Formats: sequence, C-alpha cells, structure tokens
Amino acid sequence: MRVQPAPVSFEHLRSGLGIGASAPRLSWTLPPQTKIQDAYELEVARGYAGERVRTGRVTDARQRLVAWPDLPLASRERAGVRVRVWADGADTPSEWSEPSIVEAGLLEPADWIAVPVGAAWPEDPNGERRAARVRRDFDLARPIARARLYVTAHGLYEAEINGTRVGDDALSPGWTVYPLRLRYYTYDVTDQLAVGPNTLGAWLGDGWYRGRYGFDGGTRNIYGTDQSLIAQLEVVHDDGSTTVIATDSDWLAAPSPILVSGLYEGESFDARLHDAAWSLPPDRPDAGSKSSEWTPVNVGHRDPSTLIAPQGPAVRCTEEIAPVSVLKRGDGRILVDFGQNLVGRLRITVDGPAGAAVTLRHAEVLEHGELAVRPLREASSTDTYICDGKGTRTWEPRFTLHGFRYAEISGWPEAQLAPGAVTARVYHTDMRRTGWFECSDPLINRLHENVVWSMRGNFVDLPTDCPQRDERLGWTGDIQMFAPTAAFLYDCAGMLDSWLADVGIEQLPDGTVPWYVPVIPGEPMWTPIQPGAAWGDVSTLTPWLLHQRFDDVELLRRHFATGRKWVDLMDRLAGPSRLWDTGFQLGDWLDPVAPPEDPAAGRTDKYLIATAYFAWSARHLARIAHTIGEGLHAHRYRTLADQVASAFRAQWVCPDGLMKVDSATAYALALQFDLITSPDARRRAGDRLAELVLADDAHISTGFIGTPLLCDALTDTGHLDIAYQLLTQTECPSWLYPVTQGATTIWERWDSMRPDGSLNPGGMTSFNHYALGAVADWMHRVVAGLEATSPGYRTIRFRPRPGGGITSAKARHETPYGAAAIEWELAGDVLNVDVTVPAGCTAELELPGRDPVALAAGSSHHAVAHIAADGVAMREPAGENC
Ligand code: BGC
Repeated sequence: MRVQPAPVSFEHLRSGLGIGASAPRLSWTLPPQTKIQDAYELEVARGYAGERVRTGRVTDARQRLVAWPDLPLASRERAGVRVRVWADGADTPSEWSEPSIVEAGLLEPADWIAVPVGAAWPEDPNGERRAARVRRDFDLARPIARARLYVTAHGLYEAEINGTRVGDDALSPGWTVYPLRLRYYTYDVTDQLAVGPNTLGAWLGDGWYRGRYGFDGGTRNIYGTDQSLIAQLEVVHDDGSTTVIATDSDWLAAPSPILVSGLYEGESFDARLHDAAWSLPPDRPDAGSKSSEWTPVNVGHRDPSTLIAPQGPAVRCTEEIAPVSVLKRGDGRILVDFGQNLVGRLRITVDGPAGAAVTLRHAEVLEHGELAVRPLREASSTDTYICDGKGTRTWEPRFTLHGFRYAEISGWPEAQLAPGAVTARVYHTDMRRTGWFECSDPLINRLHENVVWSMRGNFVDLPTDCPQRDERLGWTGDIQMFAPTAAFLYDCAGMLDSWLADVGIEQLPDGTVPWYVPVIPGEPMWTPIQPGAAWGDVSTLTPWLLHQRFDDVELLRRHFATGRKWVDLMDRLAGPSRLWDTGFQLGDWLDPVAPPEDPAAGRTDKYLIATAYFAWSARHLARIAHTIGEGLHAHRYRTLADQVASAFRAQWVCPDGLMKVDSATAYALALQFDLITSPDARRRAGDRLAELVLADDAHISTGFIGTPLLCDALTDTGHLDIAYQLLTQTECPSWLYPVTQGATTIWERWDSMRPDGSLNPGGMTSFNHYALGAVADWMHRVVAGLEATSPGYRTIRFRPRPGGGITSAKARHETPYGAAAIEWELAGDVLNVDVTVPAGCTAELELPGRDPVALAAGSSHHAVAHIAADGVAMREPAGENC
C-alpha cells in the first residue's frame, strides 16, 4: 500500500480551477497509518512544462492552510502541487501525494475585455419581460490545446457551446453585493470546442439582479434593468497562440422561449418557441434557423475590478427524488407527494399537443387536502410548460427554485403520469458533507435528518431564512445561531467566508450590521436599518466559530474590522452604563408565548438580551484580536467585555444567582455567555432554569435566542436529565412535536402546523427554517460526545453523556485533519465506547464519572464504563479501558 498524504486542497475550495487567490493556502491530511507530522515538503510544478520548485524539508507540524510556498500565480497560471511528509520520528518521508491542480482565474481587472451584452429590445409596457438568449458564432482556425470560459451575468446565466451545456452549476453567479462583488465562474471547455465553426451562447434569467425580490412580492431591478452576459472564452492553440471570444457588440440576442422567470414566481416556457439547435454552429446540418429574431445586442458597462472568483462551491443538483404518491383528482389535477420537503424544482418528461400547457404548483404542506399556498405569500411558485406537439420532451425550469414537498400538476396531456415522468431535483450549494449523527431514538434521528434538510434547503449560495416565500434572505441572526450546527454537517467555510465579506460591505458606516445581507435597499419594513442584538453579532461570533471549526486565522483577520465596528457601535449605544437599553430589538424572536402576528413579543426583556450579546461579542472580539496578534485591541475588548458583564450582573442578576427576568432564555444567556461567574450563583441559576423547564412540563419556552443555548446551560449546571426531557418531549412546543406531525424539515415556528392540522395563522409561517434546529450542535457535542477543543479539531474532546432513554449514539465528523468518530452503546449499566482520533490530532476521552484520558493521534480506542441507570456515573474503575 502506498503511504501518502491525501491530495493537497486549496483554500476552502473543492476545485482549484479559476481560483481568485494568487497565493492559495494549502491543506492536506496525513497518510492513514501515521500519527503526527514532523515535517513536510511541498512541490509546485508550474505551468504545463512542469518546472518544479521544492521547499525542501520544512520542520513543522502544520497541515492546514499552509502559506503558498512559491511566487504568486499570475492570471491563468496553472500549477500542480504535491506534498510528502515525515511523521512519527521516521527518517524517510512518505510517498508524494497525487498532484492537485490549481489554476488562477482572471486576477487583474485588465484581464477582462468582455463587457455586458443583452437584449436591445424595449421593455414590454405591461411589465412582462421576456428573457433573452445571447449568442456568438466564431471560427477557430488552429488545433486547440485548451480553452477556458470565464463567465458571469447581470442576472443568471446558463452557457452553451455547440449545443452542449457548459458546467452543471445552477443559479450562477449566485447572489452577492453585486455593485462591488460579482462572482464569475471558470470552466474548462476544451472538449466542447472544435477547429472550424463554433457557437457560444447563454440563456439569461432575471434572478436576484433584476427579478422581483423582497417582501410583499418583491422589488424589481434591485441592481439594474439590464439582463446581460459577461463572458470571455480564451482558447490556447497547439502553437501557443490564443483566440479570445468575449462578449462585445458582435454578439446577437433573441427572445428565449422562457416567457417569464423569477425566483419567486417560477418559470414559464413555451416549447413552440424553442429552437433546440440555437447554440449549434451554423455549418451543422441540424443547426437552428438563426432566424431574423437574432438582433445586435445592447452593450453595457461593468467595472472589471468588481468581478471576483468563487470562494466556495457553486449551487448544483445534488439529488433526485421520485414521487412517493401520485393522486389523480376528478378534475384532472394530479397531486404528487415527494415524501420530503426540499428545495429544488421539477423535471418533467411529457408528450402533448402543441399549445397544451402543463402547470406545476408547489407547496410545503397540504391543508384540507389541497396545496397550502398561503405561507408562500406573494411567491406564486408556479412553473408552466407549453408543449410543442413534436414528441416527448424533457424540461426543467432554469432560473427559479421552490421549497416544496407537494406539487400539483394540471393540464397533464397524457392519461397517466408515467413512472419517471416527474422527478424532484434537489438544489443547494454543493458543499462537502462532513458530519453525521445517529442514535437509538428514531424520532431524534428524524429531527437530525430534518436539520440536515433545512440546511440543504437554505444554503443556496447564501445562508437564507427560508426557501419558499417572498423572502429567502440572508438573515444574519438565523445563521449566527445555526453556524455551529452547519459547520459540523457540511464544509461551509468558503461559502460563509464569502457571505461574511458581503456582511462587511453592507455594514453601515456607523457599524450597524443589517438584518439581512445582501440588503434590499428601501425595503419599507426594514428601512432605516437599525442595529439588532443577536443578528448583528454574526460579525463577531460567526468568524470565530468558523475559525474554531476550520482552523483559519486569516478568515478572522479578514472580518475583524467588521466585528470591531459592530462592537464599537454597541459601546457607543450603551454609553457609560455599559447597558444596551435603547432602540428597536427583535428579542427572543418566536418565543412560543409570542402571538402569531408579533413574534418579537417574547417573555424575556429585549434589553437583557441586547446587553448579554454585547458582552459576548466584546469577549469574542477580544479572543479574535488575541488570535490575530492584535494585543492592544485584545486588551481593550477584554476590558470592555468585563465591564459589560458586570453591568449586566448589576442590572439583571441578584446576588444569589436568581435573575430579575425569570425566563429560561434569560438564564440560558446568563449562564452560557459567562455572565454569571461565581460557582454558587451558577448553581442557583442552573437550578432555577431546571425548575422553569420542569414547571413547563419540559416544553420549550424559548425563541431564537434561548433555544440554541438551553440544553448546554442545563448540561453545564448538572441538569443533563432535564435537557434530555426537553429533547425527547413530543408535545407542542418542542423539537419533536413537528416530527410527530410528519415534518421532514425544521419548522420556523414551534407550531407552524397546529395539532389539529391547521396552519399557524401568522403571516410568517415557513416549514423550512434551520434556526430552531441549532440544537443539533448540542446533539453532536453532548449526546454523541464529539467536540473540538482547539481550532480545526486539532484537539478533540470525546465526552458522551448518555441519557433520555437513548441506548446508543454515534457521530462522525470529517475534520480538516481527517475523520473523527465516536460510537457508544449502553447495555444495562455498561457503557461501551469506541472512538477514532484523526491523524495529526490528539484527543481526550471523558466518560461519565471518570477522569479524562489522553488519546494519541491517529488511533482508535475502545473503553468501558459503568454508569447508573439514571445516567449518573458510578465512580469505580472500569474493566478494560483504552
Ligand atoms: C425571517 C427570520 C428572521 C426574522 C427577523 C423573518 O421573516 O424568516 O428568520 O430572522 O424575520 O425578523
């Protein structure tokens, strides 16, 4: 067997093609048989000739985001990188890893000659805006060595070359703060081109750029009125010469068969207008009519310095789901159930007479047997396909997305829905799955599955609140609370790092972090933008969290200024009292006692929450400053955090640990944000929290703020059993109540659907909101017992905490250093535990009632402990251990 490290990866990307960093950082994992790296050697083979540069042996244990070891890459420059390591004191190195290829994108604004091109026809006065296709025919005279397409759009694009789609990404270029950051993607299109005539074209859609988006059905033209492609095809010939085909005035545009397309509205497609050969080169016998519909494009302008390469993966179809039931109604409508609430769109295969219209409507739930569309508000989520009468066709909308479990099909022209005729295709940012959890309780497993599905449905280029109604915005509070769970389940570092850059851009000059990013300017409900606790704290807490999980100090450095401006703003708002007690706040959003129409009316004082978050953010900013070597700032923010914490105590905590606001959220915050420090007061506060939970019969009494902290606060103060009572509660409100109602995603409200099957009457009722699923982080760390104790899981604590009648649990996480896993089983009073420590990481195993035991890197261990039936440890020596 070859002993070699895994291939090197670049930054937080899955592919090195088109990278935006000229000196990308490198990561690798050790060969399976090794434990600790003593040294490494990197080799960079630049260009195609493969001139090799080696670092020589570098005595260093680092394997994570190691600095680029050579001169920076130039635009388009390619390199093969490999690594070998010395480990465990051995004199000889491992084999070299398989080489990984990195290739720079267009790094300099001057690299771009492409300009935006789109349809020149006037806008339809009644507001319907026909989407365009744009096209350019060209000849390649010499043999092709390689070709790259760099492409983006004002709106959305799908490119084609010679009749074949380029790439498999969807909704590209995604949503960023377009005026300052418009992402482009790089594709290797070498195999799609030929010597002779070629055609490059693209479908265009409105997307976030100029489609309707935001509340009340949305605002049009948020970023501009044009719908344009920006594309640059660079062909390198065998003789070293190049041909560049870039969007310019030589391009043509024609109305596309997409009649209407919007992220909320859905898409209408008239196949009768579709010339399937539109992107075939003119010399091909099957080439399309190239009719007079094709007219010269309108040429726009774009500052190329605003074009950026991706920092994370694109959105893709990651799964296809077949219907679990199909119900044909008397009136011909067909109700299809996919058995899973998901985000994506339908692909249909249909044969109908010319002009027959098939309509697809979508909904997350049914009410009285019909699609419940009220929760969609103004997002009509309706796709229409008009048949061309020329045989069987397969169609899927291109530039929309729906949140649905059910679809209603009307106008289906065939007698039956043939097997495979309708498929749900699931779309989200194509992140690598890294985390799994399972236990002996099937309801809890379904809850966890629901968390995973809600993450998938809401990580669609940016982290959104919900995927179905006229909202789908990057709410800062939601991801702040969910990030610890997200970072376990998927490698979301690149995607969130990119989104945090947008948070920094959208931050107001006074430090206010918007409620959602990107901002929709002038949105009446949320204008002027005001600072809000827990939402704005995404600027400090989320970078810190990402560093803890992905070991990226540079990321902390990048977002430090945003965090500082936020904390400094809170400092000014609070003034000398150090209490943030003014202004608008959302508070413990969606506390179950808040009435449906006023989710902010929770039982916990909003200013208690605001000051608690102020202290916690200041504390984290100090930690960040310390980590990035900003000693003075670290000192300043630590002092500030201490002052705010004492002001909080003076205002909200009685000397005995009881709080002046007697709510679970108040206790959970004070305990978890270290605002109650003395051991006696913490004990008293923990006891009171437990009493409150029990007084509510272990039903949930917290909203967005308290919910992610509650189980930890109970666990840390000796009430693990009560945390389990909360977790296993099935009556409303609880985490498992939706599961008992057949939920397949996390609901926005504890009672999005009421026990009688009616929907919550609030205007804001989603069935796919990850925020309340933040408890999964506790399940990973405490129920299974797998927790990072230093950045990137370089040190791990395995600390299983059985309870709640659960007899077994396991978790596995692909840490940046390799797979960490724990599996435990409780048989009577005997707890059997198996753990795996990744190579390069050390761990400790702490079993109930026993002292922690150190575990070596790259090893597997089995341990046994005896614990009493109530989960309380018995202090006795275990049989075999480690
Ligand atoms: C969103 C949230 C968000 C909240 C704040 C809602 O409409 O769906 O999850 O955080 O508004 O007001």
